[in-house]
Amino acid sequence: KTTEHDETVVYSEEWLSSLPKAKGITEDNTYQYQGFWFGTISLQGLIDCQQHFRPRQNDVLLVTAPKSGTTWMKAILYALLHRQKYHPQDAHHPLRQKTPHQLVPFMELTKPSEYDSLFLDSTSRIFGCHFPIRCLPKSITEEDDDGSTNIKIVYLCRDIKDTFTSLFHFANKIGDCLTRLHYEPALGLRSSPVSLEEAFHLFCKGTNVAGPIWDQILEYWKESLERPNKVLFMRYEELKSEPHAQLRRLARFLGRPFSPEEELMEMVDQITSLCSFGSMSKLQVNSTGHFLPGVSNSSYFRNGQVGEGNKWLTPEMAAKLDQITQDKFRGSGLKL
Ligand code: A3P
Repeated sequence: KTTEHDETVVYSEEWLSSLPKAKGITEDNTYQYQGFWFGTISLQGLIDCQQHFRPRQNDVLLVTAPKSGTTWMKAILYALLHRQKYHPQDAHHPLRQKTPHQLVPFMELTKPSEYDSLFLDSTSRIFGCHFPIRCLPKSITEEDDDGSTNIKIVYLCRDIKDTFTSLFHFANKIGDCLTRLHYEPALGLRSSPVSLEEAFHLFCKGTNVAGPIWDQILEYWKESLERPNKVLFMRYEELKSEPHAQLRRLARFLGRPFSPEEELMEMVDQITSLCSFGSMSKLQVNSTGHFLPGVSNSSYFRNGQVGEGNKWLTPEMAAKLDQITQDKFRGSGLKL
């Protein structure tokens, strides 16, 4: 459950140095706060969010562990919630001009002064983040009495082995990109390659952003069972295997179900197509440029397959991750 947050924390080098520190996978260093590990930027964003975020009616928060399909779900949420204004087949649809990360910003990277100004239309804000539920401010997790500012939380998770594999590749893309482009290590991001063995070790220890991943997933899982109207628990693999059913489920949860007219004009299919890996990864905006310094937009689109973990991990590594997953989730009813 949400803990009381210390409103007096001032993010500073001195404060950081008071926290447990470890090596990260995508970051050179991570810091432990409220039981989880964060990079410097995400920690700063978290403290800002805990102290300054004020919800608005219709806000939606997407939460993921890194590499669980955040980019994909950001696109889906944007297309779904703006479908009246922007038809998915419109050649000028915002998702064809901007990356999903520009349209659905990470809370971690958003300054309080931008909580409204980043949006074309600040009455329907969608944020993404990797924050564990216990770290979210009460203004997000608790219902208010008249229900007017109750934020819906969509949690997306992915097979642990596939998530790790994706994270390993992403970490090396960052290192590669920073080296190639002679960027200063920006945002505390990793400045040198990481081996599969080292990344695996750190992942099992949980010192990667928002790790240990199992704890993050489990807390949202439990909350989704306790408060199904507040938290929707979704899976990458189900989105892949039955995108239409999952889109309808998501639309109902957000209070924006598809109307019979929309069903007739195949709106669900059009959104699915617009947001598919094939379509998104080919767009110029997603295949070139950087929305973050040193991180190419294309690094968010590798191949989007299910079962990649089994290709990249040794049988021992796969067995170890399976074992941790089983141990952590025992008794919860959650299987990944
Ligand atoms: P892979 O590295 O396995 O290909 P995140 O967005 O959370 O950073 O996750 C990135 C992962 O999601 C990458 O996985 C990426 O290829 C995949 N992905 C991105 N867009 C996708 C889409 N439209 N459909 C399916 N998977 C997608």
